[in-house]
Amino acid sequence: MIRDGRVTVDGLPVTHPEHKLDPSSCTVAVDGAAIRYQRFHYFMLDKPVGVITATEDSRQTTVLDLLPAELRRLGLFPVGRLDKDTSGLLLLTDDGEFAHRVISPKSCVKKRYYAEVEGEADEADVLAFSRGIVLGDGTQCLPAELELLGGGRCIVTVMEGKYHQVRRMLASRGKTVLALRRLSIGGLALDESLGPGGLRELEEKDLCTLFNA
Ligand code: URA
Repeated sequence: MIRDGRVTVDGLPVTHPEHKLDPSSCTVAVDGAAIRYQRFHYFMLDKPVGVITATEDSRQTTVLDLLPAELRRLGLFPVGRLDKDTSGLLLLTDDGEFAHRVISPKSCVKKRYYAEVEGEADEADVLAFSRGIVLGDGTQCLPAELELLGGGRCIVTVMEGKYHQVRRMLASRGKTVLALRRLSIGGLALDESLGPGGLRELEEKDLCTLFNA
């Protein structure tokens, strides 16, 4: 496009593809239409049950398979993981630092899950969660919140993401998880209007909401 003279920087045609510019102050246009430069990309996905949190797999559908073709070449990857049987909020990005900040327990970003369990969690379970559950293999978890909703339903809030963590925390209290759905990450709630497999690009204000909870 540059060689064909279709690209301008601040209104002047550029002739060399190696032309350097400052994307924060220059306006780049193709055929007269300004294009937006974006270093990193952030999306929320309502991950459906049955899809694996991976970037590629020869047999199973991955969360990246759910993306439209034009987004697949951005090099997005999932921020943390949800089990195949877990649905709900999954972030996708190409920003490694952002992903680390969301996942790291040091950042204290809360992950909130809705769970349906066999049996009924009670106040003793709430107390055990608040003290920090010890998993079946002896792993000590950070203190977490358990809210009882009745009817075998509860909300679990954790600040870390160990393997199958919520299922194993509830299992350690004798509760088998029947359904698990992530509702929010930090202050950012899943947009329930998306529906299973639905995707929405996050804006600056969403990222602020996420970290400012
Ligand atoms: N905890 C789990 O057990 N599974 C998930 O997918 C997420 C948190």
